[in-house]
Amino acid sequence: MNADFRSDTVTVASPAMRSAMASADVGDDVYGEDPTVNRLQDHVAALTGKEAALFLTSGTQSNLAALLAHCQRGDEFIIGSEYHIFLNEAAGAAAFGGASPWPVEVDANGSLTPDAVRAAVREPDQHHPVSRLLCLENTVNGRVQPVDLVDKLAATGQDCDLAVHLDGARLFNAAVASGVDIDAFLDHVDTVSLCLSKGLGAPAGTVLAGDRATIDRAFRARKMLGGGMRQVGHLAAAGLHALEHNIDRLADDHARAERIAEGFRAIDALSLTQDTNMVWVTPPAEHHDDLVAHLESEGLSACFWKPTMRFVTHLDIDDAQVEALIDTFQRFFADRT
Ligand SMILES: Cc1ncc(COP(=O)(O)O)c(C=O)c1O
Repeated sequence: MNADFRSDTVTVASPAMRSAMASADVGDDVYGEDPTVNRLQDHVAALTGKEAALFLTSGTQSNLAALLAHCQRGDEFIIGSEYHIFLNEAAGAAAFGGASPWPVEVDANGSLTPDAVRAAVREPDQHHPVSRLLCLENTVNGRVQPVDLVDKLAATGQDCDLAVHLDGARLFNAAVASGVDIDAFLDHVDTVSLCLSKGLGAPAGTVLAGDRATIDRAFRARKMLGGGMRQVGHLAAAGLHALEHNIDRLADDHARAERIAEGFRAIDALSLTQDTNMVWVTPPAEHHDDLVAHLESEGLSACFWKPTMRFVTHLDIDDAQVEALIDTFQRFFADRT
C-alpha cells in the first residue's frame, strides 16, 4: 500500500476543494480587485483578531515580507535557534533586508524563555545592531507552544520595544491540540503567518495578518519579492474552503500520529517522540539503511533523515495506511531485536 508520510504539504486538493476553486469569482489582485482574495484576507483578519491580512505565495514569502516590514538594514531579530526562519528560509531577511538573526537556544520543547529573550536584547550602543523583532514559531516541529508561554514571550518582546512575529505555519495544529481558537495565541503578537498548504490541505498560499500599517509595508514587500499575483482567487478559494472544512479534522491527524507512536512503542529497538501530527523515530544506526529500503519496497515514504526519521500525518493519510506503516515496522524488527 502506497503512503506518503514525508510532510503535510504533499496533499492534493479534494474534489470539493477543486470545485470551489473552479467556480471562484476572480479579478486582478494587483489592483485589489479579486473578490475571493479579499474575502480570504477579511476572513483571516477576523479569525486572528487583527486589522488586516495579506495573501502570499508561501510561508517563506510571508515570513520574509513580515521581516522586511518590521526591520531596517542593520536591525537584528531574536529567534529560536531551531526555527524555520533561521534554519530553512535561505537567509532571506539578511540577503534582501540586511537584517541579521540573533539565534537563542531553545529547550527540549522548542521553546524560548522570557528571561532568554530579555537577555538577548541589545543595549543601545553605536557598536550594536538594533534589536527590532522577536520571532516565535508554533508548532515547532510538531511541538505545541502553550498559550500562556506564547503570551508571556510576546508580552516580554513588546515590553522590550520589540515587534513580535509568529510563524504560525502550523498554528491551527497547536490550536486544535490546545482546544482553543488561534486568536488565543495572538494578544501580544503583532504579525502572524498562517499556511494554508500544510495541514489544511490547500495547494498553495499563506496569509499574513497584523495591524494595517505593518500589512501595508508587507504588501509593498510582497510586490518587491515578485509575489503580486493576478486572478489568484482560484487559489484563495482553496484557502477559504480549507479554513471552512479542514481545521477541526486536524484532530484526526493528531490521533493517527498517536496511533503510529503507540505501534512503534511496542518495538523495543526504537526511540521516538510524537507531537500533534509528527512522529520522529530513531532506529538503531546499523538498521537504518535496511529499514529505509524495506519501507520503500512496500511503497511507504517519509523523511528518511539520519539518525532520526520523520513521519507526518495529513489529509491524505487514512487509518489503513497508518496500520500498514506500523505492520511494516513490526515485521522488519520481528527478527532483529
Ligand atoms: C514552521 C514553518 N514555517 C515556514 C515554512 C515555510 O513554508 P513554505 O514551504 O510554504 O515556504 C515551513 C515549511 O515547511 C515551516 O515548516
